[in-house]
Amino acid sequence: MKVLKIFAGVLAVLLAGLVFSAQADEFTKKDVERWQAEYMSVVEKGRGLWTSPELGTNGVACAQCHPNAANTHPETYPKFQKQLGKVAELRQMINWCLQHPLEGAELAADDPKMIAIEAYVNWERRGVPLAPGKH
Ligand code: HEC
Repeated sequence: MKVLKIFAGVLAVLLAGLVFSAQADEFTKKDVERWQAEYMSVVEKGRGLWTSPELGTNGVACAQCHPNAANTHPETYPKFQKQLGKVAELRQMINWCLQHPLEGAELAADDPKMIAIEAYVNWERRGVPLAPGKH
């Protein structure tokens, strides 16, 4: 009886494994192309915001000091930032520059504009190894 129960348990785990692994594979080349296109459309939105004098209030754009997202180092986050006096995420420095050099309002973490800016910055630095905490 006990042996049967153990057998049933093992069988259930194996079946669950089969079901989940099958689910993980359920996408096609077409899906990947669509997801990539969606991602790139958000990157392009971010690039537009990056170069826009409309993002802040004083006509300054991120690209003036960070052309092509230069000197943003997304791969080093989270890290200690002296302007904030604590370990911070990339978006907190995006907000710091939004509020100071651009004299604008900060963006919520889930604001589509924030997500677009993050997507753009990370795209410009694609392929760079992660180095959290690095200065
Ligand atoms: C007037 C110049 C200027 C403008 C415009 C500007 N920044 Fe910055 N940015 C700086 C300076 C100065 C620092 C601080 C460098 C440091 O100490 O890490 C910085 C730092 C950053 C960092 C962190 C860099 C790192 O090495 O960790 C990010 C991210 C960033 N800026 C994003 C933005 C974004 C997004 C905008 C537009 C909303 C913007 N910046 C506009 C000057 C500027």
